[in-house]
Amino acid sequence: TSNQMWGGRFAAGNSDIMEAINASIDFDQRMAAQDIAGSRAHAAMLGAMGIVTDSDATAMREGLLTVLSEIEAGDFPFSKQLEDIHMNVEARLKEIIGEPAGRLHTGRSRNDQVATGFKLWVRDQFDAIDAALAALMKAFVGQAEAGAEWVMPGFTHLQVAQPVTWGHHMLAYAEMLDRDRARFADARKRMNTSPLGAAALAGTGFAIDRDMTATELGFDRPASNSLDAVSDRDFALEFLSSASICAMHLSRFAEELVIWSSAQFRFVTLSDSFSTGSSIMPQKKNPDAAELIRAKIGRIFGANVALMTVMKGLPLAYSKDMQEDKEQVFDAADNLMLAIAAMEGMVSDMTANVSELEKAAATGFSTATDLADWLVRELGLPFREAHHVTGALVAMAEKGGCDLPDLSLEQMKTVHEGITVSVFDVLGVHNSVASRTSFGGTAPVRVREQVARWKEHLG
Ligand code: ARG
Repeated sequence: TSNQMWGGRFAAGNSDIMEAINASIDFDQRMAAQDIAGSRAHAAMLGAMGIVTDSDATAMREGLLTVLSEIEAGDFPFSKQLEDIHMNVEARLKEIIGEPAGRLHTGRSRNDQVATGFKLWVRDQFDAIDAALAALMKAFVGQAEAGAEWVMPGFTHLQVAQPVTWGHHMLAYAEMLDRDRARFADARKRMNTSPLGAAALAGTGFAIDRDMTATELGFDRPASNSLDAVSDRDFALEFLSSASICAMHLSRFAEELVIWSSAQFRFVTLSDSFSTGSSIMPQKKNPDAAELIRAKIGRIFGANVALMTVMKGLPLAYSKDMQEDKEQVFDAADNLMLAIAAMEGMVSDMTANVSELEKAAATGFSTATDLADWLVRELGLPFREAHHVTGALVAMAEKGGCDLPDLSLEQMKTVHEGITVSVFDVLGVHNSVASRTSFGGTAPVRVREQVARWKEHLG
């Protein structure tokens, strides 16, 4: 038999394979609440404008609430034959309220309907992710506050570069996550226009009030071009691209945790709640949560590329290709939320191994730059010459199998006779970080200022 929603011109029903490729109900039932919110706004507007009677509008609005409660109770018989959430809801509404249900689709199309419901769903995600990111930032700030003075090696090329403070390293992630929140917030602002009433693609001849539905649904205004309104998925793409950048940040810290928790580094101990053991090696404690965050991020990048690829060849306006938007966004949103939550747990629970960090901070001639700076400041050497002298001292220490502070003053004087005993003051890692007081620098005093700023910002 032909489809009960659009089967008028069809003599026969779809093949099973057509149903399988066409139906989206298995996944788009996730936006039932948003679809129903859109339909209720539309019904109210139809009533207010006299396009349907008040009693029909009321019946539709109440009936839709009944449908929603059935879906939320989990006893809704979703039908694949009815393709998607929109037609499943409408068909059930007809069973509940009868004839008036057939008037709900006046001045509307599934094209503006799906764009509206999906936008509402994505908008909810922006809000949920913002809250989750704020919580993660608080975890980083908490670590920074505890360890504003702890020294650790700062790396470039993953080679020891200069000592930095633990707090400074933690706050680098607060900066990244704050930019992520700003990106999401910016995209949310831009996407907040209502497609409802664009109808199939051209608008409608019914005297609808698009401002009224936009307002009821919390949109800033109706989208001003009906063709664009039904064919725009920028909001989903901006969500996915912002999610990709955010996910990249999470993955970088996940990678650091994997390295830091290894026996070679021993910078951190992850809590038992975010580690797993090995079925064969009894000593193992693996950073699985970090590894899975690092891996799941790939799905978010994949979703971004997949939807860009779906959209790139579509002529205006709606094409069924666009139905492929939802699974990508759902999967990316789920995995991003999970990754943020897992990272928040790991960051809150991890223990920095302060003495290991400090020991490591002193390796790799990490205060060589401090020594060169001392030669500039105290002896008036041009920086390039100071660099050269320091290089010779590093080579001497390396040859002797010791660190820079282990060289004697006499040995140093053989490289540059102006060197005095006060040079040893700058070779310690604590002095090194304490000296880096430039704005944005790693000195504990600067880190504490930034911690205070973040705490105020995050409330
Ligand atoms: N399930 C469809 C989607 O997700 C709804 C829109 C269908 N529109 C249409 N003209 N067939 O995009």
